[in-house]
Amino acid sequence: MARSRLSTALSEGFLSLPEDGDIVVIRPPVGHDLSDLPRDRTRIIHGFRPDADFWSEMGFEVARSTENAALTIVVVPRSKRQARALVAKAATLGGAIVVDGAKTDGVDGLFREIRSRLGEMPSITKAHGRLFAFTATAADFADWAHEGPEKGPQGYYIQPGIFSEDGTDRGSVLLAETLPAKLGARVADLGAGWGYLAAQVLTRDTVEQVHLVEAEADALDCARLNITDDRAAFHWADARDFTADQPFDTVVCNPPFHTSRKAEPSLGEAFIAAAARLLSPQGELWLVANRHLPYEAALREAFTTVEEAGGDSAFKIFRAARPKRDRGRRR
Ligand SMILES: C[S@@+](CC[C@H](N)C(=O)[O-])C[C@H]1O[C@@H](n2cnc3c(N)ncnc32)[C@H](O)[C@@H]1O
Repeated sequence: MARSRLSTALSEGFLSLPEDGDIVVIRPPVGHDLSDLPRDRTRIIHGFRPDADFWSEMGFEVARSTENAALTIVVVPRSKRQARALVAKAATLGGAIVVDGAKTDGVDGLFREIRSRLGEMPSITKAHGRLFAFTATAADFADWAHEGPEKGPQGYYIQPGIFSEDGTDRGSVLLAETLPAKLGARVADLGAGWGYLAAQVLTRDTVEQVHLVEAEADALDCARLNITDDRAAFHWADARDFTADQPFDTVVCNPPFHTSRKAEPSLGEAFIAAAARLLSPQGELWLVANRHLPYEAALREAFTTVEEAGGDSAFKIFRAARPKRDRGRRR
């Protein structure tokens, strides 16, 4: 197997681990190579539940945040604002900083920006990405710091890196407009984001409870601020494994369709299977998807009745009813 950037940097003496103190790795995705780091003093900072669970199962301590580190490794996320905020956070922890990322996630742009502030710094390029190291103080990146949810242009709380941080998703708006006036009493929103769809569900007066199920803790923090209605409950969970003490009358869903840059229809399919498993026998799923995503087969596998209930040239909206008895197989 080809060596990772981190492993290469360590084996070639470009980087060395501190002898004492904590090593903090911010937002490594599932499978990121951390095999050279000592598990007993490496802490993973992550808010995305499937990734957090993965690292915890691998024996690492996982937390949402931390206050100090001897070395902090920032794995570059796709959102530029989030990448800057993570660098600013790393600069408050007091130790050396390493940034490791793929070119497609903008690591080269981040490198140029940081170098223009701090001057030349060691860097290696490998495997379509870059790793570079520097030391900095909180003041160096104070303008990149981000302390928590802030009101965005649409008047809702958002944070860098969460879904539709720049404006409401058109697919979600279409789904909200298509939802019937009467929804069931118990509703779940799988992949609830900062709460747009759940807020629309709460405008239907038949609704007694809305359960927002969301894997990204940063998004759920926003949802808690955006929805202050007592009928809402918030779950930091992987929707594919989520369980509830009672079945739901309605599930609404704008499912995620990628974790990387590539479309992964299997993610949406797993959400459809979860919806079927969570619904009562008379329950209904309302789902919006990009028109090019092939969800019809998964819907027909999990539900007896499937119909296209609306949409436009880019999105399709499905109503699926009567979940099948062998529903809920995880794909
Ligand atoms: C397309 S967005 C929809 C967000 C929101 N419902 C809206 O309409 O604005 C999908 C959401 O699913 C979340 N997500 C991704 N994987 C997840 C998982 N395994 N379990 C729960 N939520 C997940 C993402 O963080 C994102 O907020």
